Amino acid sequence: MTAKHWKLDTDRDNIVWLSVDKADSSTNTLSADVVAEFSAILDEMRSPKPRALIIRSGKRSGFVAGADIEEFTRISSTQEALAIVRRGWDVMNKLAAMPFPTLALISGYCMGGGLELALACRYRIAVDQPGTRFALPEVMLGILPGWGGVMRLPRVVGPSAALDMMLTGRSVDARRARLMGLVDASVPERIMENSARMMALEAPARHRLALLQSLTNTPLLRPLVASMARKQLAARARREHYPAPYAIVDLWQKYDGDPFAPPAGDPASMATLVEGETARNLIRIFRLQERMKSLGKESDFEARHVHVIGAGVMGSDIAAWCAMRGLTVTLQDQNAKALAPAMKRAGALFKRRLRDKRRIRDASDRLIPDVAGDGVRRADVIIEAIFENLEIKRALFAKLHAAAKPGAILATNTSSLKLADIGTALADPSRLVGIHFFNPVAQMQLVEIVSGANTDGQAAKDAAAFVRQIDKLPLHAKDSPGFLVNRVLGPYLDQALRLVDQGMAPETIDAAMTQFGMPMGPIELADTVGLDICMHAGQALAGGNAEPPKRLAHLVTAGSLGKKSGRGYYTWRDGKAQKGAAGAVTEELIQRLIAPYLKEAQAVVAEGIVADADLADAGLIFGTGFAPFTGGPLRYLSAKTAPR
Ligand code: NAI
Repeated sequence: MTAKHWKLDTDRDNIVWLSVDKADSSTNTLSADVVAEFSAILDEMRSPKPRALIIRSGKRSGFVAGADIEEFTRISSTQEALAIVRRGWDVMNKLAAMPFPTLALISGYCMGGGLELALACRYRIAVDQPGTRFALPEVMLGILPGWGGVMRLPRVVGPSAALDMMLTGRSVDARRARLMGLVDASVPERIMENSARMMALEAPARHRLALLQSLTNTPLLRPLVASMARKQLAARARREHYPAPYAIVDLWQKYDGDPFAPPAGDPASMATLVEGETARNLIRIFRLQERMKSLGKESDFEARHVHVIGAGVMGSDIAAWCAMRGLTVTLQDQNAKALAPAMKRAGALFKRRLRDKRRIRDASDRLIPDVAGDGVRRADVIIEAIFENLEIKRALFAKLHAAAKPGAILATNTSSLKLADIGTALADPSRLVGIHFFNPVAQMQLVEIVSGANTDGQAAKDAAAFVRQIDKLPLHAKDSPGFLVNRVLGPYLDQALRLVDQGMAPETIDAAMTQFGMPMGPIELADTVGLDICMHAGQALAGGNAEPPKRLAHLVTAGSLGKKSGRGYYTWRDGKAQKGAAGAVTEELIQRLIAPYLKEAQAVVAEGIVADADLADAGLIFGTGFAPFTGGPLRYLSAKTAPR
C-alpha cells in the first residue's frame, strides 16, 4: 500500500523501520487517517513477517504529540467520541499482539496516544535529550487515556507511578523514564539507531516489574492502592468538578483499564466523561491556550539578549526565567549589593527546575550581573521592573531610549501606571510596550502585553513573539487601569477584605471560594501577593477615591504584609497559612463573593480591554486560576443563564 503519513524501510536484517510523519503538519498527531493507515500497515506485516518492527518519528520536533484534539472538539455525539476511542484501542491491541519484537524509538515529546502506542510495543528506547518527554495528559482535558494507557502503564511502571502520571498529567524526561522502567534504555542520539537495532535483534526478555509492584497490580491489592489514590485526589479536586481522575482510578481498579468494559452510566466510562460539562470546558480551554500561543506567531521577532532593569521581586525572577529559557540576560540594579540576592534566587530556580548539572551551569553562565547597564546597547528586549514610581520610570526610559539599539523592544512591567504617561518621556513612544508578568514568575503562565495609545502594533506583536519564545502565554490588553487580571481581581479581593472588616472569618471566605473551585481563597491570595501591593493596587484602581478596607490598612501600617513577613490576615509558618476552622459555607455566600469578579469580567469585555470574551476567559484562567472546570468566568455566566 502507499501510505501518506507513514514511511516504511526494510533493512538487511529484515527489520522494518516505520516512521510516522504526518503529512502537511509540523507535529505528528494520531488523527483518524494516521491511525487507519497504521492499522492497515500492521495487517500487511502479518505475512510475510519481518524479523522486528521499529517505530520512530520522521519529524525532528518529536515522536507523537497524542491524538488529534481538533477531531475531539468537532464531535457532536457520544457515539463519535467512542468511535475515536475504539479505533485507537483496537490498533494498539493489534500492535501489542504482533508476533515479532516491536520497539518504539522515541526522541522528543511522546504524549497521550503517542505514549500509548509506545506502551503497546514490546520495547521502548528514549533518546536522552532535553526535549524528550513522556506524559499521559488526558486528565487535563477531562478525559482518560482510552487507548490502552490505563491498562498498560501500571503493568510497565507499577500502579503507583502510573497513577501519579495519569492523575496529574505530569511529564517525565528520558532519565526519569529509564529509572521508573517506562523505557528499557535511555541513550544518546548518536547511538539511537544502533541501540534500537541491537535490542530488536537480541529480543531480550521483557522488562518485569519488581514483585511488590506487580502485587499491587493484582485484584487483591488494587482496592487498597485505589483508595489511597482517591484520598489524595480528594484533597486536590472534587469529583463533581473533575470526574476524570476518579474515573481513571475506577477504570484501572475495576476494569483493568478497558474503556469498553464499564456499563452505560458508570462514572468510569468514557461516555459519561465526554457527556459532562467539565471535559467540554477543559477541551475548550486547551484550544484557547493554543489560540494564545498563536498570538506569538504574528511576528518572527527573535530575541537573543534580554536586559532587565530592577532586580527586585519581579526583575530578578524575570531575568532568571529568561536565562533558563536559553537567552543571554544582563540584570541591572542600582548597586552590586542589590544584585546578589537576585543571583542567589536564580541559582535556586535553576537547581529546582533544571536538575542536570550542565544545564544549571549553562543557565547560570547566561545570567550576567550588570550594574553599569552595559547590556542596554546590545539587548533585543529591555524590560524595566524598577520601583512603581512614574517620575523614576520616566527618567529611566528617557535614557534607555537613546542608548538602546534600533528595533529593540522597550518594555515596562508596571502594574498600575499608564503606559501613555511613561511614554511621553520617549522621543518615540511607539516603541514602548507593557510586558506585564505575574508573581511568582516561574509559576504564572500568563503575560499581559499592554499597548498604550501610541504603541506601534508591530511592537506589541514582537513582544508577544518574545513571550512565546520564553514559553509563556501572551495576551494583548489595552492600557487601562489594572489591564485584565488586576482589574478583575481588584473588586473581588476588595469585597472579600471588607467582609472580614464586617466580622466574617477569613477561613470561611477562603473555604467558600475553594469550594467554588478557585485554587486559593481571596484572603490567602491577598496575603500571598503582599498586603502592601494589594493596598497600592486597590488605591490605583479606585483612582485614590476609596478608603481601603480597615483591617488591611491596619495590617500594612503594622508591617504585617502577609506571607513575606510571616503575618498578615493569617500567621504564616513554613510558607503555609495557619488556618482555624471555617464557618458554614452557603451557596449564597459563594455567589456573593464571586459576583464582583464576574461583573468586572463582563465589563472588561464590554470595554474591549481584551479582544473578546474567549480570550478574557483564557486570560483569567491562566492569570487568576479561575476554576478551569467552568471554562472561565464568562462561560460560567452564560451556562448559568442558558443551560445547555
Ligand atoms: P521591588 O521593590 O521588589 O524591586 C525594585 C528594584 O528596582 C529594587 O531592587 C531597586 O533597587 C531597583 N531600582 C529602583 N530604581 C532603579 C533604577 N533607577 N535603576 C536600577 N534599578 C532600580 O519591586 P517589584 O515588586 O519587583 O516591582 C517592580 C515592578 O514590577 C513595578 O513596576 C511593579 O508594579 C511591577 N510588578 C510587581 C508585581 C509584584 O507582585 N511585586 C507583579 C507584577 C508587576
